[in-house]
Amino acid sequence: MVNIKIEGIDYQVQEGMTILEAAKACGYEIPSLCAFNHGECNQGSCRVCLVEATGARGLVASCVYPVAEGMEVRISSPKALEARRRSVELLLSNHNQSCQQCDKNGQCDLLHVAQLTGAREGAFAGAHSETHIDRLAPGLVRDTSKCILCGRCIERCKNAHGIGILGFENRGFNTFVAPAENRSFADSPCIQCGQCVSVCPTGALMEHSEIDKIDEAFRQGKHVIAQAAPAVRAALGEEFGYPIGTPVTGKMVAAMRRLGFERVYDVNFGADLTIMEEGTELLHRLTEGGTLPMITSCSPGWINYAEYFYGDAAWNRSEGYLRGVRHALCREEV
Ligand code: SF4
Ligand code: SF4
Ligand code: FES
Repeated sequence: MVNIKIEGIDYQVQEGMTILEAAKACGYEIPSLCAFNHGECNQGSCRVCLVEATGARGLVASCVYPVAEGMEVRISSPKALEARRRSVELLLSNHNQSCQQCDKNGQCDLLHVAQLTGAREGAFAGAHSETHIDRLAPGLVRDTSKCILCGRCIERCKNAHGIGILGFENRGFNTFVAPAENRSFADSPCIQCGQCVSVCPTGALMEHSEIDKIDEAFRQGKHVIAQAAPAVRAALGEEFGYPIGTPVTGKMVAAMRRLGFERVYDVNFGADLTIMEEGTELLHRLTEGGTLPMITSCSPGWINYAEYFYGDAAWNRSEGYLRGVRHALCREEV
């Protein structure tokens, strides 16, 4: 443990913690953007978390600066407050501020820190870097005009499964985040898992929404039906503040009917039949000596991963492995 002071109050915190972690453990909120998940991303790039700390020459990025015995940290000094506000204003100066139309509105970390720091839009008017938009992939959309170059997506794509699709392209003012050579996600081995989307603090990476197409179908008076996968009813409740995993099946179906869907079908029954089939096949392999292991999944990301990175090897090594994958693919296509 080390003894430190935050805002003049004595605390004991774990040695090795960053100032940001220590402050959080002591009940203080320091605005931050690029840092997340206990050092999974620690580029120290956004400078939104600047504080004063004794022993340092100037302001320090609290997300990467470790605590030390006897350190005194000032989070709310005029100098620190001003520096953090300026950092956010600089980010906003190169940000597409069409917040009203942005799907991230209401969950945007950049807007949150802008409110926390009192940053003003337009404080630094000037040129914007070139925008690159990729809407070709089925699962996700990239819009660099909303990117703050925090690097979270890059780290997550590397750490989640070791693929590392994303990286920084170009240098300086022209830097942007993209798959290698600024290819579309659709032209890269991106498995469409959405891990990068889940950690992006802004609307720069988002799910590929199909809502406009459904609206158009309603407008044209088409007979529109919906079919919900088993996981949706367990995930949807989180968006409305229910504890993680709370099933909202009835509410979901009622909402879809009120939105205008003529029929709402449930994939659960088909999924149950599939599980019975898979169980039967596994028993058969176990008792008759078939190929093992048998692995199946209905996750499109997992299937893409197996197909892109282990497909050929799986065919050669274990027929059973790939049969599982194919089986899962069929389920997706149904
Ligand atoms: S969707 Fe998954 S594989 Fe594709 S870039 Fe994002 S994290 Fe990487
Ligand atoms: S796309 Fe999102 S997560 Fe990736 S660097 Fe830009 S703002 Fe950060
Ligand atoms: S959160 Fe510390 S530099 Fe970005």
